[in-house]
Amino acid sequence: MTRRRILYLFPDRSSEMLRAYEEGEFWVDYRAAAERAGLDFAVIAPDHVSIAGGTAYWRDEPLSPERDIIVYGVRTGPTHAIDLWAGVSLVTSLATLGFWLPIPLETGILLNDKYATLNAFQDSPVPPVPTVRLAADRDVHRLGHSRLVPGDWFPVFAKPLSWSGGQGCVVCPDRETLDAVLGLAAGSRSGVAVQPRLDGVSADIRVVAVEGTIVAMFDRIPRQGSTVANVSRGGGYAIRHEIDSRAHDLVKLASDRLGLSYLCVDLLLADGELWLSEMEADGAVSRLLAPADVVHHVVATRFAAYERRLEEFLAGR
Ligand SMILES: Nc1ncnc2c1ncn2[C@@H]1O[C@H](COP(=O)(O)OP(=O)(O)O)[C@@H](O)[C@H]1O
Ligand SMILES: [Mg+2]
Repeated sequence: MTRRRILYLFPDRSSEMLRAYEEGEFWVDYRAAAERAGLDFAVIAPDHVSIAGGTAYWRDEPLSPERDIIVYGVRTGPTHAIDLWAGVSLVTSLATLGFWLPIPLETGILLNDKYATLNAFQDSPVPPVPTVRLAADRDVHRLGHSRLVPGDWFPVFAKPLSWSGGQGCVVCPDRETLDAVLGLAAGSRSGVAVQPRLDGVSADIRVVAVEGTIVAMFDRIPRQGSTVANVSRGGGYAIRHEIDSRAHDLVKLASDRLGLSYLCVDLLLADGELWLSEMEADGAVSRLLAPADVVHHVVATRFAAYERRLEEFLAGR
């Protein structure tokens, strides 16, 4: 039988520096992890796929719903607007051809929005960080919606609704600063999630689950004086071995509700209390978080689960 293949749908656009980062921190290890799981691996650009006569072609090669597992996590960073539709519309077309998607599009979109994610899990056993969702566009100051943020929440933590890597996170001591941040956000038309600034964040814990069971946990530890714990922003890491039973319950609840075989749940540890912060369907586990062998083990476990789910999907057709 031909080996199955993990196909990452990823835009073929980057800065030189970012491309080196993607290749050096991610694809090299994902490829090795796929190999460990007995799978092939490739990164493909949406713009290199065409469909004719019911067959999708990546460059000159026909893709196959029996062989290829299309991984597409919606990405909406500040420079991704032009690529968003290319990805969304291609995976929609591929799904009509019978390809199985480990990250259903709708779920990718839900988890891409920090407000929607937390609101979908109001019943989480680990409390979600209270959040107000503010739009930011030309009319931001005419609307004056920043008044919807309760006065006793200040200082607040403001962050773009759908970016990542700690980009654009700002602590606002007062409403005037928040309004200034909204003005800047309007320049990129990014909505903003506003939350109480949690005191004493000692870790942003990435809980990694496969089939509803925790397979690894990583503390992202903020640099002294930093407002963000992201490892891409100089945060440190430590492998965690234990967590409150509520985190196990949450991971099971979320994996079942979302139907995902792989899920990362990010919890903030602030003054000893756990808060649900965000979830990622394509949560990265890389050498920024753990030694190579741990990375390969976790990612191989993820990819092997994808293959089992593909088999179930094919059997149920
Ligand atoms: N409400 C908050 N209070 C204090 N710190 C926060 C809060 N929300 C996020 N942070 C810090 O900012 C970092 C980035 O926020 P996060 O929501 O994880 O966005 P991103 O998608 O950019 O990773 C977190 O790792 C944490 O250190
Ligand atoms: Mg984060």
